[in-house]
Amino acid sequence: METDKKYILVTGGAGYIGSHTVVALIEKGFTPVIIDDFRNSNKDVIQRLQTITKQEIIYFNIACQDQPRLRGVLEQFPAFGVIHFAADKAVGESVEKPLKYFDNNFGSLISILELIQEYNIEKFVFSSSCTVYGDPEIIPVNEESPVSYNSPYGYTKKVCEEMIEQFIPSCPSVKATLLRYFNPVGAHESGLIGEEPDGKPNNLLPFITQTAAGIRKELTVFGDDYDTPDGTCIRDYIHVVDLAEAHVAALESLDDSKDNPVVYNVGTGKGTSVLEMISTFENITGKQLPYTIGPRREGDIKEIFANTDKVNQKLNWKSKKTIEDAIATAWSFEQYIREKRSKK
Ligand code: WQD
Repeated sequence: METDKKYILVTGGAGYIGSHTVVALIEKGFTPVIIDDFRNSNKDVIQRLQTITKQEIIYFNIACQDQPRLRGVLEQFPAFGVIHFAADKAVGESVEKPLKYFDNNFGSLISILELIQEYNIEKFVFSSSCTVYGDPEIIPVNEESPVSYNSPYGYTKKVCEEMIEQFIPSCPSVKATLLRYFNPVGAHESGLIGEEPDGKPNNLLPFITQTAAGIRKELTVFGDDYDTPDGTCIRDYIHVVDLAEAHVAALESLDDSKDNPVVYNVGTGKGTSVLEMISTFENITGKQLPYTIGPRREGDIKEIFANTDKVNQKLNWKSKKTIEDAIATAWSFEQYIREKRSKK
């Protein structure tokens, strides 16, 4: 172990947001140590990360609840910080299998929090979600907006935040940050890492790119009878590379306010509708996207986007990339994945 290195434990580091954060950490001089059991990510992401960063990636195939093995990692790589991504996150699946979500999302967090206390980790960043705002009355939402939940998944995020709030005061040396992501989209400019859902995608943009790639027959727009300008739902789509950089900003934050944990909305502060996403995709790629208007999806909310004043000011972080860039990189990644799978 080299003493001048700032090791950052990244649970779920082979996943979509985790892998992009690993790249951002290395670019800022940190040394990420990936903890991932690959239940929802591909092992070959490690090799692709090595290609992108041109350096060896430290990783361990460990589940977050396997504390004995995690202790071994922390003995070998005393971490300055921990970023906790590892969790189940499919809204629909959480409705079918709530206990799986409670066991993994709560169990993993408890295990990690115990180790943070045991090893006196200085910084803890938790992957939360705008889903904790439920169906907000007032848009844009800020960090003081009421929280609720619309699914067992959203419930786990809300309760995990509260667990951290209850626990952290017993670890005064730990500075904790809760990042409430809006809708992560896009891929790294290399085209080597991106959103790689197993099976049928849940989220809009991978469904669009898989339809354009001919994997899906057509996209179904889940309702165009909402009270929005074009009748379709509005979301705050944030480029995953911007989102990754927000995690580094949280680690580097010198925020000495007494707030601990501190909560930030991480979005663009702009709303985009489903039909706008489709038309932007068609304009960028020149490909006609086959879609039909279907019934509303259970649990969908009409509109949400972030008030980002707090993260802009306190973390000196602002999203820089555009929806166009997110869609272009997502499309490039889709083509990379198709080519890779066709060679198997
Ligand atoms: C976006 C819009 C759909 C697919 C979820 C989680 C949230 C976060 C991001 C983890 C909606 C519409 C989608 C399709 C469609 N994940 N859509 N046809 O539901 O806003 O947020 O993912 O933290 O917690 O709740 O994202 O991409 O599923 O949907 O019309 O085939 O696209 O109705 O309006 P969502 P999404």
